[in-house]
Amino acid sequence: MKTVIGNWKMNLGIRESVALAHGVLQSLKGKELTPDVVICPPFTVLSEVQKAVSKSKLALGAQNCGPDRAGAFTGEISVPMLKDVGCSFVIIGHSERRNYMQEDGVLLHKKFRLALEEKITPVLCVGESKIEREAGQAITFVKNQLKEIFENQTIPKTSRLMVAYEPIWAIGTGAPASVADIVEMHQIIRAEVAKYTGAEPERVEVLYGGSVTSENAYGYLRESEIDGLLIGGASLKLNQFTEIINLASDILNAQI
Ligand code: PGA
Repeated sequence: MKTVIGNWKMNLGIRESVALAHGVLQSLKGKELTPDVVICPPFTVLSEVQKAVSKSKLALGAQNCGPDRAGAFTGEISVPMLKDVGCSFVIIGHSERRNYMQEDGVLLHKKFRLALEEKITPVLCVGESKIEREAGQAITFVKNQLKEIFENQTIPKTSRLMVAYEPIWAIGTGAPASVADIVEMHQIIRAEVAKYTGAEPERVEVLYGGSVTSENAYGYLRESEIDGLLIGGASLKLNQFTEIINLASDILNAQI
């Protein structure tokens, strides 16, 4: 299986969001075998987008969540609230939140746990900066990010285990990582998550994200080690995003 996730970040109002969701939905119609497709709009439009995608195979995700179930946490959005509005996925630990909002391993561990407990799939983002890569520290850095989340974490048997490898230097830069670098890191991520959780390595889904476009997506999707893509900029362009979904569908159909 392949999974294609669109991370819309802090973009689009209600009208544009609903139109984009309708467009994505349209591209899934009539196809038998498609990747799992998830769109992650901003909180403010989730409710309207949910109406557009309900009862379809297009899933809804959020870009972040608070670490607590409810209470006096002004400005936070909880996992139960996300479920209530129809989300079945939530992105956790995106580098933009780690870096701009100072989200650390302790906080992310808590968010990840809550998502699992509430039976919504956390999409954990990990990835090194250019400094770490150039210093030969990328693998150590990513292993440590995984340790912070998966050590002492109880994983329900039915949970999807999803990690997105997003090297920071590749996000929004037009300079994506090479297939060789991604495959190397994905193998490590898969083995580490399997080690901490006791899950079969095949159960761990490892996605790549960072300057994915409809031009380079095929090269990633055809790799068995790459279980899918987390897409920022190109997920806001309907033709690009649907082209990537089509490429993933073609690959899945060719495998039958
Ligand atoms: P990008 O963003 O595709 O625009 O590089 C990816 C992400 O941040 O998830």
